[in-house]
Amino acid sequence: MSKVNIIYWTGTGNTEAMAKLIEEGAKEKGAEVKLLHVSEASVDDVKGADMVLLGSPAMGAEVIEESEMEPFVDSIASSVSGKKLGLFGSYGWGDGEWMRSWVERMEGYGANLLNEGLIVQEAPEGSSEEECRNFGREAAAY
Ligand SMILES: Cc1cc2nc3c(=O)[nH]c(=O)nc-3n(C[C@H](O)[C@H](O)[C@H](O)COP(=O)(O)O)c2cc1C
Repeated sequence: MSKVNIIYWTGTGNTEAMAKLIEEGAKEKGAEVKLLHVSEASVDDVKGADMVLLGSPAMGAEVIEESEMEPFVDSIASSVSGKKLGLFGSYGWGDGEWMRSWVERMEGYGANLLNEGLIVQEAPEGSSEEECRNFGREAAAY
């Protein structure tokens, strides 16, 4: 059974809602899933998983959340080479720039990215709910 750890930060709940739908999809494919707020996560949650999914909304000016997610991502930089990794998050008014830079950054650390990252404008609803579940299914099978 593949171990999928989902580690996220959320301000108003949108990225958390994505995380829960992603969890549903991954579980459907038989994965053993751990859902963690980034404040509860450690580097061992990255090392011990077959697939790590990191979620952060676009914050600041097109960056990941700076007080908890940014230091966490920095702390795992040397532990993700060759690691299967997927990125997701919610955004408001931008064009997804924060996600493109985040994907590039993680590839720079040598991670094996699932795809170009899943982005949803504000809360997932309708077809984007299914996109989240699909992301989870793909992550479990990657
Ligand atoms: C301080 C702050 C900065 C933000 N910066 C951006 C931004 O640069 N680009 C963007 O598309 N959305 C931006 N947003 C909008 C959030 O990404 C959006 O509301 C998202 O749905 C929040 O997700 P959450 O509910 O998981 O916190 C910002 C929101 C806040 C509060």
